[in-house]
Amino acid sequence: MTNEKRVTKAVIPVAGLGTRFLPATKAMPKEMLPVVDKPAIQYVVEEAVKSGLHNMLMITGRNKRSLEDHFDRVPFIEQTLEKKGDTEKLAAVRQPTELGDIHYLRQGDPKGLGHAVLRAKQHVDNEPFAVLLGDDLIDENEDLLTQMIDVQQRTGGSVVGLIEVDPSQISSYGCADIETVDGESYVKVKQMVEKPSVEEAPSNLAMIGRYVLHPRVFDVLEKTGPGRGGEIQLTDALQTLAAADGEGAGVYGVVFRGRRYDTGDKLSYLQAVMTIASERKDIGPELRTWLKEFTAGLDD
Ligand code: UTP
Repeated sequence: MTNEKRVTKAVIPVAGLGTRFLPATKAMPKEMLPVVDKPAIQYVVEEAVKSGLHNMLMITGRNKRSLEDHFDRVPFIEQTLEKKGDTEKLAAVRQPTELGDIHYLRQGDPKGLGHAVLRAKQHVDNEPFAVLLGDDLIDENEDLLTQMIDVQQRTGGSVVGLIEVDPSQISSYGCADIETVDGESYVKVKQMVEKPSVEEAPSNLAMIGRYVLHPRVFDVLEKTGPGRGGEIQLTDALQTLAAADGEGAGVYGVVFRGRRYDTGDKLSYLQAVMTIASERKDIGPELRTWLKEFTAGLDD
C-alpha cells in the first residue's frame, strides 16, 4: 500500500511539565534550555525544515510565551545590532524567524503525548504528518526523518524512530517488538509497550521522539483511554494501529544508529552541550583543550 501525498506538516509537542529538569523548568519550558547558544527547540525546528516540513504546529502549554518570542522578530535588538554593524549576530537573531510557518495551539491539560498529538487533528487534516518531540535532538548531519518520511510513503502506515539501548535503560522508553522485512532496511513493528520493566520488555529497541504518522491515528487516539501513568499514550494508539487492518494500518520502524540526545534528561542534555560545543569552529578548539586537561585530572 503506498501513499501519494508527501508529508509537509510537522507537529511539535512542547507542553510537557519537564519535571526531570526542575527547578530550571519551573518558569520556562525545557525546550528553551540553551544548547550552546540556541535553545533546544531551534535545532528541532531546523531539522523539520531540513526534512521539507515547512508547516509546523507546536502544541504548547503554560510558559509558551518564550517559545513564541524566540521565533518572532525583535525589532529593537535588530536595530541595535544594525547600528553596531554586527551582521553576524543580526543573522543569528533573524534566523529563527525565517524558518517557516509556525502555528501554536495550547494543549489545555497536559494529559499525555497522545492527547497532545490529538490536539493537532484539525490542523493536520487528513494527511500523513511528522511528530518531533521538542526535547529530542538528532545530530544535524543525520537524515533520519527524511528516511522515515520515505518509509511512510512506501508503506502507507505509520513509522517510528528506534534506537538500541542497554536493556537496563528500556524502562525509560516505549519498547518495540519487531520483525525484519525482506529486502528492506526498515522493520515491521509487531507490538509496542510503554516503559516496560526489564522482564516485560520484548526487545532492547526503544522509540525516540520522531514519528511519521498516518492520520488514522487521530480516530484511534479519540478512543484511547489513559494508559501508563494515567496519561493518554501515543504508544497505545500505535499499538492499536499495528494490530489493525485496512487503510493506514501497520507500524514500521527505522533503526537509528547516529547521535541523539534527550535534552529533558540532565545527563543527556550535558552530553549534547559538550558534543555540539566541542565541534563548533568558534569555541570548539579551546573547549577541547580544556576538556582534555579537566578529564586528565578526574579520579575514576
Ligand atoms: P516527557 O515524557 O519527556 O514528559 O514528554 P515531560 O512532562 O515533558 O517531562 P518530564 O518527564 O516530566 O521531565 C515527551 C514529550 O511529550 C510532550 C513533552 O513536551 C515532550 O516533548 N508532552 C508530554 C506534551 O506535549 N504533553 C503532555 O501532556 C505530555
